[in-house]
Amino acid sequence: MTLEMEVPAATAPAGLPRVLPPEPVQGLREHGQRHGPARFAGQELIGEVERSGLTGRGGAAFPAGRKLRSVAERAGRPGCRGSVLVANGMESEPASAKDASLLARAPHLVLDGIALAAGAAGASQAYLCVSRPDQAEPLLASIRERAGADPVPVMVTVPPDRYVASEESALVHYLNGGPAVPLFVPPRPFERGVRGRPTLVANVETLANVALIARYGATWFRSLGAPGAPGTALVTVNGAVRRPGVHEIELGTPLRDVLEPAGLAGDVQAVLAGGFSGSWLAARDAMDTPASAAGLRAAGASFGAGIFLVLPAGGCGLAETARVVRYLAGQGAGQCGPCLHGLPEIAAALEQIAFRAATSRVLRSVHQLLGLVEGRGACHLPDGAAKLAASALWLFGDDVRRHQRGPCPGARGRPAFAVPGAP
Ligand SMILES: Cc1cc2nc3c(=O)[nH]c(=O)nc-3n(C[C@H](O)[C@H](O)[C@H](O)COP(=O)(O)O)c2cc1C
Ligand code: SF4
Repeated sequence: MTLEMEVPAATAPAGLPRVLPPEPVQGLREHGQRHGPARFAGQELIGEVERSGLTGRGGAAFPAGRKLRSVAERAGRPGCRGSVLVANGMESEPASAKDASLLARAPHLVLDGIALAAGAAGASQAYLCVSRPDQAEPLLASIRERAGADPVPVMVTVPPDRYVASEESALVHYLNGGPAVPLFVPPRPFERGVRGRPTLVANVETLANVALIARYGATWFRSLGAPGAPGTALVTVNGAVRRPGVHEIELGTPLRDVLEPAGLAGDVQAVLAGGFSGSWLAARDAMDTPASAAGLRAAGASFGAGIFLVLPAGGCGLAETARVVRYLAGQGAGQCGPCLHGLPEIAAALEQIAFRAATSRVLRSVHQLLGLVEGRGACHLPDGAAKLAASALWLFGDDVRRHQRGPCPGARGRPAFAVPGAP
């Protein structure tokens, strides 16, 4: 018997939360009671996802329906032996916790999204990629519970836990038996990916939203959010807040209302929006900025995977940035010029500026280096690191001048947020 025959349609949630329940949903039965059966599948579902305006929640905000249609069309071409779906739950960005929270609290919603998107995209195999081995066992248990109900087998895979391993072409490379490093594209995965087949790589939060759209439809989906940014998104708030963690927000919510529920711990100096590859915003500009891809872009930042790191008054944005860029410099796959030569030098220059002295020589050299790395790598890691460094040098320009005489007290104090490997 299928899930659809067992469970009556559930009432669509009117407000928040949508994808992230406050407590883990225990098992398939509770999940079925909560959401009921899907109403849309196949081509109908693709149309509904297109109408919903859902964009990818993995960072690039690409229209989910367009990607789904494109893979489905390729899978339907004569001679094509079906497509492959890769659910990206890697969350390699150390400042993010949203995908792990979602997979832990609503695994069946993600698995529904995988099944429905795989069915619509003509996939014959699906992979669910996560970065930690301890995530795999509970997911495998959830998959076992669904035995026989899904149109494609779902394999849980744990690629190496590195920053670039979760980039889509790196995942494809890994699933094809190679190292988990980005490939020089094209062909893009949706054209030729796993085993040469059209491959839909989608973030797990995107897929959870597909599962909801399949039940409640596009109009329901658009009933929250902004016209250009419909729906909700998971965000991770950390730094100078009393309750760091993951929240579900309505897209377009002013940043103030995203940050305040996390309990701002004193005056805010700036916010790093978009995580380790994001940009700094001054608190005075940040607070009224709509939390959406377009809203943050207009403010000179990015929504990315919904990461907001709060820098307190008295903190040192140059020191925080130097730690992040040093981490990113160690994450390159070592196959492109900017990662081999540019990023380590930029990291060293920022450390000199933040922790020793911002001499005119080091300032000249860091600006030159930033111009050299942009757009030169196979993936966007160097671009992200350069963007972050440039935004720090600009926003904390007064601090740079003060650092000509040596580091400020904030640079010697406790970091606002953790960076792997940083002291
Ligand atoms: C360096 C780098 C790291 C990335 N890491 C992730 C990640 O951890 N999770 C993710 O979903 N997407 C990540 N992406 C984006 C993926 O390449 C891809 O665009 C995404 O998984 C597509 O899903 P979406 O359309 O649902 O957002 C990363 C991209 C880059 C350049
Ligand atoms: S730019 Fe850096 S991280 Fe990206 S593929 Fe090239 S070496 Fe790897």
